[in-house]
Amino acid sequence: MKKIAVLMGGTSNERAVSLISGKNVAEALSSLGKYEVVPVDLKSDDLSALPDGIDAAYIALHGGWGENGGVQAALDARGIPYTGPGAMSSQMAMDKVKTKMILEMKGVPTAAWSLASPGTAASPLPLPVVVKPPCDGSSVGITKVSAADAWPSALEAALAAQGGGGEVLVEEFIPGRETTVGVIDGEALPAIEIVAKNGWYGYDEKYNSEETRYPFLADSADPKDAELEKRLQKVAVDAYRALGCRGVTRVDFRVSPMGRIYVLELNTSPGFTSHSLVPKAGMRTGLTFAEVCDRILKSARHD
Ligand SMILES: Nc1ncnc2c1ncn2[C@@H]1O[C@H](COP(=O)(O)OP(=O)(O)O)[C@@H](O)[C@H]1O
Ligand SMILES: [Mg+2]
Repeated sequence: MKKIAVLMGGTSNERAVSLISGKNVAEALSSLGKYEVVPVDLKSDDLSALPDGIDAAYIALHGGWGENGGVQAALDARGIPYTGPGAMSSQMAMDKVKTKMILEMKGVPTAAWSLASPGTAASPLPLPVVVKPPCDGSSVGITKVSAADAWPSALEAALAAQGGGGEVLVEEFIPGRETTVGVIDGEALPAIEIVAKNGWYGYDEKYNSEETRYPFLADSADPKDAELEKRLQKVAVDAYRALGCRGVTRVDFRVSPMGRIYVLELNTSPGFTSHSLVPKAGMRTGLTFAEVCDRILKSARHD
């Protein structure tokens, strides 16, 4: 019987969510009856908690060292296959500026962007824009700027979220809808729309709001959404390939009122809580939660 470590917890600000993801994944894999499953709570940014004799690692860590290529490189060094993209792809996806450069280079659509740093007096792009720290992941420090007098505080909030200095990302605001497509092993799952109050999926909408809804595009009353879903799935796979991803990744989008698609970001270690979107989309294809986890586990590799 193969011995599978489910890595969870970690030191990022997404630790609490990761512990839930990890518990779900560990229970699901155990229920299949074909693996010896070892839950491993990582309390520091290293593999000291990992027991010997592990055949593969299921990464249920979110943010920080668990998603930025750190744990991936450590597992590469130990020769242990793991779920999700490799260290390089994870590192690139964690940095929205790097991601956008690669997407543009490969012809994958993403919103127009620029950079700002302490002292940048006005938005480098026409308003409205969104200002964000390039390397955070939970909407912290992200502000929409619609009027020029809101620029200084938005810049300050984004800089503060990354310790005060460096450069932050300024992006053209894309009005319209928000969607997400999970990709497993190069294959796109059904597209899900994120219908947040006021059309903004910020920190409160993610973690505090009960009002955000997640309908499948396939259930939409608008017949044009079937074609939109196909386009989203194609762009999701294009983005996944552009960054050299493998295993599981979730690609998030904005869709303009004209139907233009823009990749917002790639999440290389998406959530596995009971209401997370990749398991929900995987289950739409007829798999159980455990079978979705098993499919991801089977794609585990190391470099
Ligand atoms: N360019 C944009 N146009 C419109 N809305 C945006 C834009 N960038 C971010 N948002 C809104 O802010 C949310 C969080 O931004 P995102 O780039 O996904 O950062 P995070 O990594 O924190 O999730 C998005 O889900 C979306 O609702
Ligand atoms: Mg996001």
